[in-house]
Amino acid sequence: MKIRTFEGGLDKNFTYLVTGGDSPQSVIIDAAVPVEHLVQSVGNNRLTPVSLLITHTHHDHIVYLREYQQAFPNLKVHLWRHNNHYLKQQNLSHLDMIHVGSLKFTVIHTPGHTPDSVCYLVERKLFTGDTLFVGRTGRTIGATSDTRQLYRSVYSKILTLPGNTVIYPGHNYGDVQTITLEENKKISPLLRATDEDDFVKRMKEYEQSRRKLN
Ligand SMILES: [Fe+2]
Repeated sequence: MKIRTFEGGLDKNFTYLVTGGDSPQSVIIDAAVPVEHLVQSVGNNRLTPVSLLITHTHHDHIVYLREYQQAFPNLKVHLWRHNNHYLKQQNLSHLDMIHVGSLKFTVIHTPGHTPDSVCYLVERKLFTGDTLFVGRTGRTIGATSDTRQLYRSVYSKILTLPGNTVIYPGHNYGDVQTITLEENKKISPLLRATDEDDFVKRMKEYEQSRRKLN
């Protein structure tokens, strides 16, 4: 499996291109950078994505969606159950499997940052969107965010995965682009809460520390 990383978009966003084995078929995670970036890197003829997996529908993660659909008319767009204005969207359920060539992605529903947040696990790689970054979790300041839900998603669905699972987040917010779950726990107090209430307290402290910085 090969993962190519593209940074750009509205806020140090990442779009990933995943290919498996010798198959030319590939999968794109989030439509956060212009399609041209991928074409320039891979070459027009060699870029044959089958599926576009959306981590959640915040604008910065889907800003180039139409562009991708126009460039690749057969592209299947996968996202959590949502309204129907995305063309050819495939609505996901928790623990769905998405097969593309030799790649097998498992869908993990991780509400909290948004109700429609999902992570995608393939081998020991986890695409986390805005649920988990290098050094911290996603934020829960949005109108549809829920800190307690985020705690349950992160602590019962992500941190229970093997410690050597490598996360590929939705933004380049850390000192490095990717990190193992094990190492991320060491550098992030938000990943060392003793229980749900402690997590809520730590999130409040985190937001207060951001305000002080601004
Ligand atoms: Fe987001």
